[in-house]
Amino acid sequence: MMAYSYVSHLYCPKCRKTYRATERRQLCACGSPLLVAYDLDGLKAGWRADDLKGRETSLWRYHELLPVEKPENKVSLGEGMTPLLSLNAWGRDAGIDRLFMKDEGLNPTGTFKARGAAVGVSKAKELGVRALAMPTNGNAGAAWSLYSARAGIEATIVMPVDAPEITKKECAAAGAKLFLVNGLISDAGKIVAQAVANAGLYDVSTLKEPYRIEGKKTMGLEIAEQLNWHVPDVIIYPTGGGVGLIGIYKAFRELRELGWLKDDRLPRLVAVQSTGCAPIVAAWEKGLLESEHWPNATTRAFGINVPKALGDFLVLDALYKTNGCAIAVEDEAILEEQVRVAALEGAFVCPEGAAAFAGARRLKEKDWIRAGETVVVLNTGTGLKYPDTVSVDVPTLEPGDLIPL
Ligand SMILES: Cc1ncc(COP(=O)(O)O)c(C=O)c1O
Ligand SMILES: [Zn+2]
Repeated sequence: MMAYSYVSHLYCPKCRKTYRATERRQLCACGSPLLVAYDLDGLKAGWRADDLKGRETSLWRYHELLPVEKPENKVSLGEGMTPLLSLNAWGRDAGIDRLFMKDEGLNPTGTFKARGAAVGVSKAKELGVRALAMPTNGNAGAAWSLYSARAGIEATIVMPVDAPEITKKECAAAGAKLFLVNGLISDAGKIVAQAVANAGLYDVSTLKEPYRIEGKKTMGLEIAEQLNWHVPDVIIYPTGGGVGLIGIYKAFRELRELGWLKDDRLPRLVAVQSTGCAPIVAAWEKGLLESEHWPNATTRAFGINVPKALGDFLVLDALYKTNGCAIAVEDEAILEEQVRVAALEGAFVCPEGAAAFAGARRLKEKDWIRAGETVVVLNTGTGLKYPDTVSVDVPTLEPGDLIPL
């Protein structure tokens, strides 16, 4: 009889200290984020890729590789198993032969943040958490508010006043305690840290608890399964805090250890940022192991406006270890690409997703993406969450007017 989860313990990627996964943990004593380890040897003995056939089409199909130990603690709105679509017309336009888009806009709450929230909130419930708090650029706060509501957990959310309007409404509708800050996500983070210290809330800031990343990891598991366990050459990800990229890297390493991958390599991972906020790109270009705080950060791709990420060293490590790269694109190119993807493919992607497309185009122009390679672009959310990024300049008719053809 197999266990529901093969979670084994938590470990620190910096100092290697380990912790039990059955108690509430935030950072390692050394200040680094903690990661989740699984009993992969145990899993390997009894689990085959074929066992996934017929399972539910949500991220919970991979429950052995997720940290929730009791199925009754699962808090789900049907997240995951989003489509991996061929975008041939856009691919032709950019000169990329095999181009797929993983469309995270189909998740509950409209972004990939639902994955981290589903797994993070479920595990928080399992650990007996009653109240949690987080800073956010909007989408994560919306997802965590809604999943917390479903779990009966109280959520306190702090986001920049400039965050997408709809995300504020999602938090409010879910009954979260929402605060806006006249500043950036880093300012929201400091306010949350105070609240956590004063009120003993569970801090679910990016990478300050180990489980959100496990939810995001499922993007990598799904990409591999949807390509029939073949490994794409390149995966392109719009990077803010970088949790998605760290998660995808972790997914492929776990699958490699399980022996499920049909190709003996890892995908080259790419972090795309806006030229208005590109700390990871700057660090990668200099070959550094950590990033520096980006001054006066600003971009219309709001989710990737993160001037300094706690997990920057993990993102950079993933880029170096997979022979990947980091690239910055201008906001102008991002907004152009958003409209081009919609016009060529009928997919209304979010500006962060559009940034990833703009990055893909640049990398093909530079021949970093080579002929015949399989490329997966992550569209991290639906364009519906950012209605103001597209300007509409069209004629207005009076009733009875003829359309000027
Ligand atoms: C739509 C969207 N894409 C990408 C990101 C960046 O995510 P990550 O923290 O995984 O880098 C965010 C984060 O807010 C987001 O909302
Ligand atoms: Zn440590």
